[in-house]
Formats: sequence, C-alpha cells, structure tokens
Amino acid sequence: MTAGLYGPYGGRYVPETLVPALDELEAGWREAWADEGFRAELDRLGREYGGRPTPLTLAERFAPGKRLYLKREDLLHTGAHKLNNALGQAQLARGLGKQRIVAETGAGQHGVATATVCARFGLECVVYMGAEDMRRQRPNVERMELLGAEVRAVEFGTRTLKEATSEAIRDWITNVESTHYLIGSCVGPHPYPEIVRELQSVIGREAREQILSAEGRLPEVVVACVGGGSNAIGIFAGFLDDAVELVGVEAEGAASLVTGRPGVLHGARSSLLADEDGQVLDAHSISAGLDYPGVGPEHAFLRDSGRAAYTTVGDGDAVDAFRRLARTEGIIPALEPSHALAHAGGLDAGLVLVCLSGRGDKDLAEVLAR
Ligand SMILES: Cc1ncc(COP(=O)(O)O)c(C=O)c1O
Repeated sequence: MTAGLYGPYGGRYVPETLVPALDELEAGWREAWADEGFRAELDRLGREYGGRPTPLTLAERFAPGKRLYLKREDLLHTGAHKLNNALGQAQLARGLGKQRIVAETGAGQHGVATATVCARFGLECVVYMGAEDMRRQRPNVERMELLGAEVRAVEFGTRTLKEATSEAIRDWITNVESTHYLIGSCVGPHPYPEIVRELQSVIGREAREQILSAEGRLPEVVVACVGGGSNAIGIFAGFLDDAVELVGVEAEGAASLVTGRPGVLHGARSSLLADEDGQVLDAHSISAGLDYPGVGPEHAFLRDSGRAAYTTVGDGDAVDAFRRLARTEGIIPALEPSHALAHAGGLDAGLVLVCLSGRGDKDLAEVLAR
C-alpha cells in the first residue's frame, strides 16, 4: 500500500475500523486500473451510456475578442461531470462484491449520478444531503428519489455538504462489510483523491485533443471551479506537463485554498477554512457544490508548488455570469462553473479553456429568487 501523500497533504486520518476497507479498496483499485478489460468497459459505458466525448464549444458572444472554449460536461448524462466518477466507482464496488452504496451530496449532482449508476447496476443506494441543500436543490432530490435512492436529510450544523459527508462516513464505518462509500470529489482518505482524479482525468485528456484539433495549439489558460476539486483536477490533469496556466476558482465564502490553513477534515490533511485552534469554520456560497470548507489535497500541493493558481469569485458575480452565458450563448450553466466563467470572462488572454462542469436546471429557483 502507498501513503497517498501530496507533499505534506493527503494521507489517511481515519478510525482503525476503516483501515482494512481502505486497504481493500486500494488493492482493488490498483488491480482494476491496470486491467485493460476494466478500462475498456468504463470507456464503453462512458460512450454508450454517458455520451462521451463531450464537445468543446466556442463561446464567441460570451467572450468577444478572445477565443474562449467551454468543455461541455453539462452535456454528459445526468448533467454534470460527477457521472465520470460514479460510473468508475460503481464498477469498482461491484468488483469488490459490494451491494450497497452510500454517498454524500451538496448540489445533488453527485447524488443524482450515484443514484443513476445504482439503478443501472441494481445496487442499493443511500444518499446523505444537508437539509439546506435539499431546499435549494429540490429538483435533484426528486430525481434521486425517482431513480430509487433513499435520500436522508442531515439536520445538524450548517445542514450542507460538510455535515452530509460526516454522516456518510458514519454510515460507512457502521456498514463497512457490505457497503462502498462512493465519495463525490477528490477528497477523503487515501486512495479516494487518487481514484477520483483518475476517473475525472478523461475531461482533460479529451479537452487537450479537442483544442489541439480546433486551434492547432494549447490554451494559454485553463479555468475550473473548485469545490472539493474534482472537475478542476480532471481538466488540469490533461495539461499539467504543458506550459499552460491552470486556475482554480473558489467561492469567496468557501475559499479553502485562498484563505485556508493546513488541517484535517474527513480523513485527509489539506487546506481548510479553520480558526487558529484548528476548528473548522462554516463555509458559505450560493452554490451548494462549492459550499464546503475543505478541498482535495492535490490542489493544496499544486497551490504550494505554484503549478496552479487559485482565486475567488463572489455570489453576485457568479450569478451575473450565469445569466450572461444563458443570454449570449443559449447555455444555462450550473452555479458552480458560473464562478469559473466569471473569472475567465475577465482574463486578458487570447485562448482560454473553461470546464463547464454542469448544467443549471437545478439552480433556477435560487437564481430567479434574487
Ligand atoms: C456542476 C458542479 N460543478 C462543480 C461541483 C464542485 O465539485 P468539484 O469541485 O468536485 O468538481 C459540483 C458539486 O456538486 C457540481 O455539481
């Protein structure tokens, strides 16, 4: 087994009862990822079930005067990049003989992706969701229930993603023999950050090929929103070895990388919103998927090494970008990638690639209420 460290970040900070399960998961993952049959089947599911490859769209009216391309993960089945990860982990869980899946969700997109793959593979599915997120992402709660998942409301703390994650981990600890914890971002104890990154790196691989074929060169800047960091690490993975600027955009009130400090949350060491005593602070964002005080450990490492830069966008600018993309391109984005759009729209660069991680149907009530 490996340590799963990204410089001083990552690792495993879990109760003893979870160590055998994480070891089993890591061994199963290593075997599966080295197996051509596993990868070919995942590729096939991505194409025939998910709708991959997702296209690149040039957003000429949104960003006049530059060439700004959108990587259209909003067009993936279920409406967000989360399906890439859910398909891969469900296939892995079946290989490990697990019949029951638990997941956490914030915006509900990961919950919907998980409920979808559980329906597709005949697995029992329980999704934990904060009561505040159930209110603001109602359509996704209805979708999960239609798909046959049980959605359990989490009523304590900020009633958002942090508490939902804690509850999912608690369930997993209790039912670890029968249950796979299908985590939704590149967070959590090793080997989760690595698994989620590899499963999302299809975004970056495709986007690199697509932009080379459209423009004959690589973008100057790649921009993605960062909640836990999975769509960002997925698209960054395609460009890490290139002379391409990588920018992650956090919500202003949930900026674990821009304003955070080192600490441990949900099984890993990373950069967190925390006070001087290490107490985790509450995050706030209009976007449920970014409303989380932690972030994947690889992003903390990329920040410290200088390979990627991170910045913030506030609720108001994200909503403006949401409305502007709808009006200028006929595409309604999710509130999460609207943060990336707001930043990218103002960049002084000729060729820009933005990860449009999901579509905005789930956010209509929240935006129209403003
Ligand atoms: C559409 C969309 N984009 C981005 C995110 C943030 O997650 P991550 O940073 O893991 O990509 C979410 C989370 O729910 C989401 O639904």
